[in-house]
Formats: sequence, structure tokens, C-alpha cells
Amino acid sequence: MSRTKVIIDTDPGVDDAVAILLALASDELEVLAITTVTGNVDVALTTLNARRLVQLAKRPDVIVARGCAQALAGPLGEFEGVHGSDGLGDLEWDEPTIDVDHDDAVEVMRRLIESDPLSIVAIGPLTNLAVLLERHPGIDRRVEKVVIMGGASFEGNVTPAAEFNIWADPEAAQKVFAAHWPITFMPLDLTHQATLGDADLQFLRELGSEVGRRTADMLEPYAAFHDQWYGSRDVYMHDAAAVYELIDPTAIVKQGVRVAVETGGQHSRGATHIDRRRGHAASSTRVGLTLDNARFRELVRERLSRFD
Ligand code: RIB
Ligand code: CA
Repeated sequence: MSRTKVIIDTDPGVDDAVAILLALASDELEVLAITTVTGNVDVALTTLNARRLVQLAKRPDVIVARGCAQALAGPLGEFEGVHGSDGLGDLEWDEPTIDVDHDDAVEVMRRLIESDPLSIVAIGPLTNLAVLLERHPGIDRRVEKVVIMGGASFEGNVTPAAEFNIWADPEAAQKVFAAHWPITFMPLDLTHQATLGDADLQFLRELGSEVGRRTADMLEPYAAFHDQWYGSRDVYMHDAAAVYELIDPTAIVKQGVRVAVETGGQHSRGATHIDRRRGHAASSTRVGLTLDNARFRELVRERLSRFD
């Protein structure tokens, strides 16, 4: 089986953590690097969390590179954090021994893209990808595929209009969606179909592995947040849905679309206006429509069981 070479661009983040562990456990993927960005928490913390997760997975072969500290338009406004003050549910961790690369995230992306055909799965704000496009015009044509967790067809989360990853850097998202690389993106209406429930958290605890235990511990406060805001402890696995697309491109039903990102608007900044008319059926920008949650849950359980 030929493995898909992947860079994971991320803001861990509890759901990012599940996505990263899922990717690292999946033989269909060869994770070359994890590049970090400010999003759920500041890039200093998202980078520490990426190091923690690579160490937890016992994968010192994976490059960790620190990325952009703020959006193209400047620092983020205040928003309600849902991942704990450290971004991973505020558990106790030993200081990771795995260090960051001497190059920053954008330089690591350039280095890897220029040496191998690869895909990027972007599960945080898109600042690093936008800076990559600015610093290296034409590099988008060398990337096989970009899978993005971001956007919303109908209702946002950080505001009624906007999903967090796009809202956090709309100017970056606008550049990324306008580039020449093929994009598949998973908006909230898709990722809300990808959940883990209490039975899955119990399953993870009963694995007896540190990965299982820590994943369940990270997800506990995330489940409490979902219960408070959405009326169910089932947790949205936004970012793992994007990784799922790379693991099994046949699993998620998709459609060709055109996307416009709102960068103005008093209440609509960060909204994604998705044109689903049939005239865009052959577009290289595709949106995720539906997935089978039972199949998704089984995959996550089976893959996370692989860690000893
Ligand atoms: O809106 C969900 C997205 O925002 C996820 O990537 C989550 O980790 C946060 O970054
Ligand atoms: Ca994320």
C-alpha cells in the first residue's frame, strides 16, 4: 500500500489531539511533520502540546515546527476557550524531551513540499498556509491535496455566522481558498456528524494504555462543554473528520463547490459562503456532506487501540 505523506497544521486543542493520534496510528499515512499555529491557545502552548502528543505516541521521527503567533490581520480578539487553559484539558504532563525543528513551520513546509509530493491537513487557523503562499509563490501547485477543517454552511460556533478556524484568520482563509491546490474542506455541518460518546471514552479508558487514558481524560471537560452548549455529552471530532478524509477518501460523501470567505461584516466576519450549484460540480474545491458515524467511531477505536 502506498502511504500518503502528510503535514498536519494544527492548534492543539483537544480535538486536534485525537486527530493527530489517529493520523499517527494509521498506516495509510506517513506523518512527516506537525506544524503549529496560534488558535485554540497561543502558539507557544500549541507547540508544547504538539511535542507532548508526539512524545505520548512515541514518535520522535515526526518533525514538530513552530508557526505563526498571530493572524495576518493581527492578534485575535477575546473568545471563549473550550480546550482548557493549556489547550489540552489541563492534565499533568512531564516536560517533553522531543524538541522543535530549527526551522519555523513555513520553512519546514517548504522544505518538505519541495522534496516530496505530499498532502496538508489543516485543522487550525490557516495563517501558516497563507504565509507559505506569500513567501513561496507557486508552491501551491506542488501540493497534492489540502484537507481543511473549517467553515460552516449554515451556523457557526465562535459566532452564529462563523466557524472558529476561519473566523480566527479570514484573510488567510481567503488566500488559501483562492490558491491552485485542490482543497477538500469539512465544515461544521459535516464535523457535527463525527462524534465520540461516553461509551467511546469508557472504551479508551479500558484499553489500559497511556494514550487511551490521556485521551479519555482530555475529552472529559470537552464532553462537559458539549453538554452545556449543545445538550449532549457526545463530542464533535471536527479535526479527526479531516484526517479521516485522508485515511479513507471514499468514506465522506463530497461535492464540488465554490467558496467565498467573508473578511468584512460587523457580525459575519469569517463566514464561508458556499455555492453548491451544479455548475461547480467539477470544481477542485470539494465540501464534505455526510459520513457514517458508526464507521468513524469504529475506526477511531481500532486505531487508538494500536498504541501500546
Ligand atoms: O471549529 C472547530 C475548530 O476550531 C477545531 O479545529 C477546533 O480544534 C478549533 O480549532
Ligand atoms: Ca483545531
